[in-house]
Amino acid sequence: MTFLPPHTSDKRRMPETAHYKKVPVMEPPADVSADVDPSAAPYGLDHTVPAASPGKQTFTWQRETSPPRLIASTVSTGCGSRQALHAGFIRSAQRPLRDTARDPATQYELRRNRRIGYAVSVARRPAESSLHSPPCHIRDWGPVVRGKDRDYKLDAIPGSWGGLGHIVRLWRDPLGFLESLPKHGDLVRLRLGTVRVWMLCDPELTHHVLQDGRTFDKGGTFDEATRLIVQDGLVVAPHEPHKRQRRLVQPVFHHQRLDQYAAVMDTEIRAVSDSWSTDRVLDGVGEMQRLAMRVTARTMFSSALGEHTVAQVREDLTNIMDGARHKLFARMSGLAWVPTAAGKRFDTSIARMNKTVTDLIADYRRSGRDHGDMLSMLLESTDEHGDALTDDEVHAQVLTVFMAGTETTASLLAWALHLVSEDEDLQDRIREEARELPNEGVGLADVGKLKLTRRVLTETLRMYPPVWIFHRRLRTESKVLGTRLPEGSNLFYSPYVIHHRPDLYPEPHEFRPDRWLPGASDHLPKGGYVPFGGGSRKCIGDEFAHTESAIALARILGTWRLRPMPGEVVRPAVKASLRPDAVRLRLYRHARQEA
Ligand code: HEM
Repeated sequence: MTFLPPHTSDKRRMPETAHYKKVPVMEPPADVSADVDPSAAPYGLDHTVPAASPGKQTFTWQRETSPPRLIASTVSTGCGSRQALHAGFIRSAQRPLRDTARDPATQYELRRNRRIGYAVSVARRPAESSLHSPPCHIRDWGPVVRGKDRDYKLDAIPGSWGGLGHIVRLWRDPLGFLESLPKHGDLVRLRLGTVRVWMLCDPELTHHVLQDGRTFDKGGTFDEATRLIVQDGLVVAPHEPHKRQRRLVQPVFHHQRLDQYAAVMDTEIRAVSDSWSTDRVLDGVGEMQRLAMRVTARTMFSSALGEHTVAQVREDLTNIMDGARHKLFARMSGLAWVPTAAGKRFDTSIARMNKTVTDLIADYRRSGRDHGDMLSMLLESTDEHGDALTDDEVHAQVLTVFMAGTETTASLLAWALHLVSEDEDLQDRIREEARELPNEGVGLADVGKLKLTRRVLTETLRMYPPVWIFHRRLRTESKVLGTRLPEGSNLFYSPYVIHHRPDLYPEPHEFRPDRWLPGASDHLPKGGYVPFGGGSRKCIGDEFAHTESAIALARILGTWRLRPMPGEVVRPAVKASLRPDAVRLRLYRHARQEA
């Protein structure tokens, strides 16, 4: 099966020479050009002027240009393996060229992409640079695939470290690394441990991959860590079981139910906000986790969980989310057998969380009552054929909703508190809007009136999407942008990458809620804003999250003025979700509420 964006012409019909024309061409390096007579090399891409003797340079020419232009050059040392720069070298010469790069005087690198055509890049490296360090002058000359409106660029990412590949860079500075990827191409290749992966850096490409859930499915190494947490719930279920599960879970998030949940959310949010006082410094991250946890627990289990159990579940969730990333990286780097404190906490918390959920399902089944909450809905839900979720499936969905819905919303709210705390005028305007909320019985219609609040949250999700990276796995061999990818290939999409493209969002690190004024975002392409993913696997709780976060932000700012602690720097903590490392705020109660 072939995938190309709709406006991209079918590369299978494109003559090979079209690729050649796209190969960026390098002018002969200044110090060798004098030795070269282009007219002596009227050959195509596969041909070179052979080096006659050791120490002589060998040249490769591109035939389509007039005069022919040098595209590759190396030094032959006379050793057999280094003379592969003869006819057909592009298929066979990667290794010899690397050897050649050891030559102290002239060092070059050649890359190729057999699947797309011949992509050759040649660049000089300083003589002293090591073979394993990222190239200093290597230009990004991956092949380009021509679309109707524009061209797409593909490339491999430099800076891979031995057996770990790009894991080190991703671990050390995940956001910086991700943000650097689009400049290498629209579809770029990385290596994580032993696994090759493709990262989608283009919004339209991301959109199309998300829409085709049958071809770009779930599964494989990267979902194993998630599966440890949520078993076979919606987030990791493969395409066919996913379709069935989604049908049965969807009613839980129906508009009418959300209208009822809104009032429950409001009660929980106010309980949390009312517990604060002016004499303490607010731990924004911890409090937003407590708030999101209470909301999920109350909407999922109505009042079945006591305050103590809610606190316990919250601690378990934190351990699980923190441990998940450790587990995944350990697996990819072959170190899964090494015991770690985070891994141990993860195992203990998962076991306790499973027991809590199993006991609750058994209680609900025994009582047979409709509690009007999400768990009752899950237990009762049937489709048109009378099909229902099994207890194991309900268990998996409960864990999924806890994992997918709590940490994400808490991270969004913690970032929002941090961002608005730096702008008192914005706080005043949100506070004004918060007066729209009734004292009791908040519903979806009231939330719809919180326009500025929602713009602030939309912009927060753009800058700090809690789900910063996600995975798809190719179910069948497919062509993506003209590149044949084998079955089982791993593709990643990252809302963070897309949301920080300066061509879509000028000055992407600036917090500007006005980007979302009516009409202001009309220029965005499909896939240009994906905090909730897209297609058949789009976040099922997106409206839930919008409702909860809008009520929370409006209620908090309706009651409190927030000020950042002087000198405090807030940094992203890149865990299973992207949250701030710490948000410490001074609280001032508004006079109106004191009366
Ligand atoms: C700001 C908050 C949230 C963000 C940013 C977020 C983001 C996402 C994203 C990006 C996905 C798609 C992953 C993929 O492509 O495979 C997803 C899926 C999901 N989310 Fe959310 N989510 C949020 C809140 C919630 C809430 C509140 C709930 C539930 C109450 C929830 C439940 C789920 C579930 C069950 C899935 C799996 C859907 C499926 O595969 O059919 N999420 N979420």
